Amino acid sequence: MKPKVYITRRVPDEIIVKIEKEFDIRIWDETDVPVPREVLEKEIVDVDGLFCLITETVDRELLEKAPQLKVVSNMAVGYNNIDIKAAKEKGITVTNTPGVLTETTADLTFALLMATARRLIESSDYLREGSWKTWSPMQLTGQDIYGATIGIIGMGRIGAALAKRAKGFDMNVLYHNRSRKLSLEKDLNMKFVELDSLLKESDFVCIMTPYTPETIDLISARELSLMKKTSILINTARGGIVNEEDLYHALKRGEIWAAGLDVFEQEPISLDHPLLTLPNVVTVPHIGSASIKTRMKMAELAAENLLLALKNQTPKHVVV
Ligand code: DGY
Repeated sequence: MKPKVYITRRVPDEIIVKIEKEFDIRIWDETDVPVPREVLEKEIVDVDGLFCLITETVDRELLEKAPQLKVVSNMAVGYNNIDIKAAKEKGITVTNTPGVLTETTADLTFALLMATARRLIESSDYLREGSWKTWSPMQLTGQDIYGATIGIIGMGRIGAALAKRAKGFDMNVLYHNRSRKLSLEKDLNMKFVELDSLLKESDFVCIMTPYTPETIDLISARELSLMKKTSILINTARGGIVNEEDLYHALKRGEIWAAGLDVFEQEPISLDHPLLTLPNVVTVPHIGSASIKTRMKMAELAAENLLLALKNQTPKHVVV
């Protein structure tokens, strides 16, 4: 009998075909609607492998319903949706998809930085709503990117890829990380600083760190108050790293200049969220890795991890 696999979303056909060749699969056959929790709880009961996305909460309670489960393959680099401790205790392998989305996510981070600094969305709306009557000296003026100081919090793969882009704009690069990255410091001519110094000195603060118990609310009222009035916060990591209520107040009071956000505490963010009332906030719906090529690579890698784990071989990227 073939091992059973549950796939929590309709991923591209070629990925499904690949998994189907080896396993007995069931799938939540929707592209834009996450599997309801009660369905997932029923489906997981007899499966050996789970192919899931960041929209599924794989907590202890769910894992306890799956006595046969051997592997949870997350189609994402982040795995804060999975209770890693519970999986480890139960001997369940958890895999993720680092590497393949690095450059695409760094591209989006830089795009968001530029769109926020130069008020692209606001300017486009201004034109389309008929407010553009003439050219005027200080109309829709933003912040310079070239030559500014960027502070990157979290110097993993994506942080380093962002630093490379910043160098192309002759930016002064500061970073903060749990450990120093000496060879990267040398290669990219960037400087390690403590978090408070990074917040005080940067024109752009970019969050590139994983979401862990230590990084919940890492950027709250105190940290925002250290930033310059002209500085911009960019978050393409996870929403919970920034306290959204504190961010709203800091933006509203003009304590910082603007924010560019790809991620939110609750996703999708509610349309009546106060942050969406502010003109100096650019928001996009968690699209950091959303290029066609990269999403295909992520799905392929997640499928490969799943196949290897269920064949008792070492997956390419094991979390636990
Ligand atoms: C990830 O991989 O963790 C992203 O947030 C989704 O691409």
